[in-house]
Amino acid sequence: MAYFVDKDIRKATTLPASFYKSQVTFNQLLEQFFVSSWQFIGHNNLLPSPSYAYPFMLLEDSLDEPLVLVRDKEDDLRCLSNVCTHRGMFLIDQPGKYRLLSCKYHGRAFNLDGQFRSMPEFQTAENFPSEMDHLPKLPLKRLGDFLFTALEPTLDFETVFQPILDRMAWFPFEDLVYHPEASRTYTIKTHWALYCDNYLEGFHVPFVHPSLNNALDYKEYDTEIFDYCNLQLGVASEGAPSFELPKDSLDYGKKILAYYWWVFPNLMLNIYTWGISVNIVEPIDLHTTRVVFKTYLFEDERSKDFSQQDLHDTEMEDEEVVERVHKGVQSSLYQKGRFSPTKEKGVHHFHRLLSQVVQ
Ligand code: FES
Ligand SMILES: [Fe+2]
Repeated sequence: MAYFVDKDIRKATTLPASFYKSQVTFNQLLEQFFVSSWQFIGHNNLLPSPSYAYPFMLLEDSLDEPLVLVRDKEDDLRCLSNVCTHRGMFLIDQPGKYRLLSCKYHGRAFNLDGQFRSMPEFQTAENFPSEMDHLPKLPLKRLGDFLFTALEPTLDFETVFQPILDRMAWFPFEDLVYHPEASRTYTIKTHWALYCDNYLEGFHVPFVHPSLNNALDYKEYDTEIFDYCNLQLGVASEGAPSFELPKDSLDYGKKILAYYWWVFPNLMLNIYTWGISVNIVEPIDLHTTRVVFKTYLFEDERSKDFSQQDLHDTEMEDEEVVERVHKGVQSSLYQKGRFSPTKEKGVHHFHRLLSQVVQ
């Protein structure tokens, strides 16, 4: 199904309700677009020492791609397939120190760079080993110490992330530490794109988030659009915490409470004075979305302004709304809406990008 969203927000209508109800469109986005997009893996301290491997699933329950992040003994990082090239067994299950990646099924072994190393009972196999016997390798890119990969990238990492790399060049990503006890996963009864729609505008903040609204200076709140990401700049109200920005920051002189970065199609990097809340939106099915909140904190007094309760309360307020919107768009009487030209630039940007990738 093709969708059209006018590039002039003053004339445009939103994606129609049929977009959120179409299984064909849902599958098409996953199969054609999520596989080509850059996805967040985690911080490089997932691999605390050389000769270390960390297995993970890329977008569990949707892309479901078994991968392994490896730091070899020279300290080089790689992202490899975690599936044995013999008959498809999962290679490793647990993070830890490894000398080789060895398959427990029939004993095939790989070096930590993914090269085939050995296999019993294959002495008489012809043209063996060949290229197909090595582990497939994926690209690995960094934003500070955060690692990203893509299964079949169609855009350079820099094309997507350069605005963030430039704007946040001063931000000490390397000082952050992952805090699993302060992280949380939410399952929500909504379409994944409705969850993103809601994230992409601050228009609802005064209506839906009373306490966040106190911390923000709503009239200064603005959205900046880049090619494949956008930024909502949360300006702090009187008395709320704000960044101490260096002179060479574009935002020097402003009181910034938070940088809310969204990266097409499903990543949110919420950058605060205390650290970062990374939100990964995982499409499960037409009516179910999982959102993984990963919390990275500074290990000093900067983390004093972190409140898991505040993040959770805001999330509950958002979930209540998006679950009701999900029910609302199923209505036979709702077809589509219009955008506020001043307050819904981020949602318009998202809908434009979606309309361009779904043919
Ligand atoms: S599947 Fe790995 S050795 Fe057979
Ligand atoms: Fe919200």
